[in-house]
Amino acid sequence: MNEFMLQHTEEIQTILSAYPPENKKSAVMPLLYLAQRVDGYIQKKTIEEIAEILDITSTDVSSIVGFYTLYHDQPEGRYRLQVCTDLPCALRGAEKFLEDLCGNLGIKVGETTEDGLITIEEVKCLAGCHRAPMFQLQGDGNLSYHENQTVDAALELIAELKKRASEREGKSE
Ligand code: FES
Repeated sequence: MNEFMLQHTEEIQTILSAYPPENKKSAVMPLLYLAQRVDGYIQKKTIEEIAEILDITSTDVSSIVGFYTLYHDQPEGRYRLQVCTDLPCALRGAEKFLEDLCGNLGIKVGETTEDGLITIEEVKCLAGCHRAPMFQLQGDGNLSYHENQTVDAALELIAELKKRASEREGKSE
């Protein structure tokens, strides 16, 4: 038995028990969710372990991680700000919004701010096409959607996140 299985045997069994044994591969998403909750992102070795648990290939598991914007295979900033630049959003200025936001933060798409707070990512449709520019924000176990955005509004939100993060750090000292 390997690490992920050993450390979370009970939770894994609970998840698996929700599915008939012949359909246990359907447990892939809750198992990935568990792994990400524990480690903050999904490690390559955990992908292999989940594949082993479910009798599927690690490519099957990786393709799910790659498809969904809520799964991550790399550790990044405390918050992930994911801007949709799919065609309908691009027609409403999403690409320029993304470029200007990154320019203001001094990073490129896919990078994290120096303080480790924000990672900016480019994603496909988030179902808010008619209210672009829009992004989803993940972090601290929360997910929120921000529509009809301007760079100033996004920077204001980031400043607020920064303030909250430093207040929390101050409290934990
Ligand atoms: S195309 Fe951007 S939210 Fe749908």
